[in-house]
Amino acid sequence: MSDAVYCKDLSLNGLGPLRDDIDWKTYIADDRYQKVMTIDDLNPKVVELLKNLGIGIRWIECFYLDPSKQMSGYSPDYFHIDSPGGGDYIKLNWIYGGKDSKMFWGLPKPGVDNPVQTSPAGTKYRGFHVNELDIVYTQAVGFPSIVQIGVAHNVVNSIEPRLCVCITPGKDNKDLTMSQALEIFKDYIINNEGNKDGK
Ligand SMILES: [Fe+2]
Repeated sequence: MSDAVYCKDLSLNGLGPLRDDIDWKTYIADDRYQKVMTIDDLNPKVVELLKNLGIGIRWIECFYLDPSKQMSGYSPDYFHIDSPGGGDYIKLNWIYGGKDSKMFWGLPKPGVDNPVQTSPAGTKYRGFHVNELDIVYTQAVGFPSIVQIGVAHNVVNSIEPRLCVCITPGKDNKDLTMSQALEIFKDYIINNEGNKDGK
């Protein structure tokens, strides 16, 4: 996967994922690390944009991380794959706060095949310690970015709290692959580059 794309920033003219009357900081009061959201939480303009691009919304959630609180279950050494079987699936991630935070992607070292686990929110994932992976890519996530979630990933934010709103778009009742997403969002892609050496 040396030419694999792990993250692409999009320019949606500053279109935020949340409804205008929802302040992202209201989620800070919720001490859950992962929160399942509904379409009622979303900016109708985002919903319309995705509809006009011919894609639906399969899942919405947000993750809140405060580096000073080191919430339970969080360690920058732990990575995960969202889709238990791995593969090539993307989400759209919007980040609020999280100055200087970076997302990392890594491929399991030979022989590493960790079991599927269930998060407190009921989602399935496979976890990995950083020592079980070869880091292949690093990039700051934008507002928003297409991110590869079928490959083990993690975020390190050490300066300020960060809320990530994640939309899982889909077509024909399936998650999108990166190549599908790059084609669908081709008019919105900003060609920022991250680092391939994991720095
Ligand atoms: Fe994830």
